[in-house]
Amino acid sequence: MLLNSHSPKPILAPSLLAGDHARLADSVQLVEQAGAQWLHLDIMDGHFVPNLSFGPQTVKALRPHTSLFFDVHLMLANPHHFIDPFIEAGADQITIHVEPDYPIADTLDAIRSAGKKCGLVLNPDTPASALEPWIDMIDMVLLMTVQPGFGGQSFRNDVLPKIAAVAAIRQSRKAAFRIQVDGGIDSETAPLCLKAGADTLVAGTAFFKANDRSDFRRQIEAVEC
Ligand code: DX5
Ligand code: ZN
Repeated sequence: MLLNSHSPKPILAPSLLAGDHARLADSVQLVEQAGAQWLHLDIMDGHFVPNLSFGPQTVKALRPHTSLFFDVHLMLANPHHFIDPFIEAGADQITIHVEPDYPIADTLDAIRSAGKKCGLVLNPDTPASALEPWIDMIDMVLLMTVQPGFGGQSFRNDVLPKIAAVAAIRQSRKAAFRIQVDGGIDSETAPLCLKAGADTLVAGTAFFKANDRSDFRRQIEAVEC
């Protein structure tokens, strides 16, 4: 069975969380200079995850500095309260977790009604079946390959079968959503995810630490799925 026969071309989405927070606009330039198309923006509330990052004001301030696709990952207990501010700030896509208790369908609708892309995020221990009610509403599934909250953690190999399971769901439902992975992605773990069926890779630490960031991006985006 060719699970990945309809996979989109691989994309690297560098995470600004691992950039220099005193010079975020300069870090965005490093992402552009590497030839990336996407910028992953990690938003944390100190409640759903045990850490804080930055909010819509920072995203808005960065928007005039780049035309990169703003991929906003909301790690919030109440993401439905923050859709409008992030859309006004310039988000191109917003992903929301399935674990907290809030109106998920209405929140996806609010993102789509604004003409933006939307996605659902699963923590490492949340099963693929949790996506089922919303499969037809989403542009992307984000599978966390670490427990969210911090950059620089080790990749969880035990998530690999779930990537394949989500790729199988995509095929059986004739859906076209992207499959993104986030956490501990580097030049060794990226090919494992791509072979399993992922097509969109977030990398924070490995991207900003790479000696040659363009080469890092090219290597990852050149993997044959
Ligand atoms: C973790 C964030 C990630 C993080 C990845 O909560 O969602 O996007 O920036 O960082 P690395 O690539 O360092 O694991
Ligand atoms: Zn993220």
